Amino acid sequence: MVKPLSGIIPAILSLFLVITGCGAESSNDTGEGHVLKVGTDAAYPPFEKQEGDGTITGFDIEVMKAIAAAEGFEIEVEHTGWDPLLEGLKNGKLDAGISAITITEDRKKNYDFSDPYFEAKQLILVPESSKSDSLQDLKGKKIGVQAATTGEEVVKKAFGKTYQGLRGYDSTPAAIDDLGNGRVDAVVADNGVVKEYMKRLPEGQFKIVEDDSFEPEQYGIAVQKGNQEVLDKINSGLKTIKKDGTYDQIYKKYFGEE
Ligand code: ARG
Repeated sequence: MVKPLSGIIPAILSLFLVITGCGAESSNDTGEGHVLKVGTDAAYPPFEKQEGDGTITGFDIEVMKAIAAAEGFEIEVEHTGWDPLLEGLKNGKLDAGISAITITEDRKKNYDFSDPYFEAKQLILVPESSKSDSLQDLKGKKIGVQAATTGEEVVKKAFGKTYQGLRGYDSTPAAIDDLGNGRVDAVVADNGVVKEYMKRLPEGQFKIVEDDSFEPEQYGIAVQKGNQEVLDKINSGLKTIKKDGTYDQIYKKYFGEE
């Protein structure tokens, strides 16, 4: 008795909103004017970070803005954090997510991804004095990762899903903080980010360990599964900014020549 009604009321309501054009997500005649809500975990420099005044900047943000400009749609970037980002994409509260998100087979079951826009790899960050030269050397040690990232995955793959030394953090900076104060012996995260921290932190504190077992990764912009319309626009915009040099310009700004 309750079930059919619960479906009918929203249906009537959305019909009303479409007719009156009052819906928060309503479009104008040309289909433009809908502001795309883009989520990110703005604690992953240089891909995304929050400035002191709250504005969100970074490589990903500039890429997303350039895509939107190329396609003529508007975006609003929101710092959601990592878990809420993945959740918000799944339930449709967000239209898109750009957050150094690695395209994985597992995630493809839950999201649709744009064409790849960046190549990445995991790196290990350890204290300068560490004797570890590979992931295997860290067996039995405490390893910090951002939970639900590919950094966590590589540690689980090497040492098992229930590895006692694994420490999952809500954010990568939190894991790196704990590396600084000795609560963990290493942090595994994306190369771009690890290198950025090496640049920013006092010299002689940490060093980078590379591990050949880490597979190459590719970042994609994620949308809700089945949202072909937004995905097509993103892919088309990405093609445009790659062709017209905008992407290269942004790349150079953040990563230098290469
Ligand atoms: N590339 C990794 C992954 O997809 C880490 C991404 C974390 N991104 C972030 N903004 N915190 O799992």
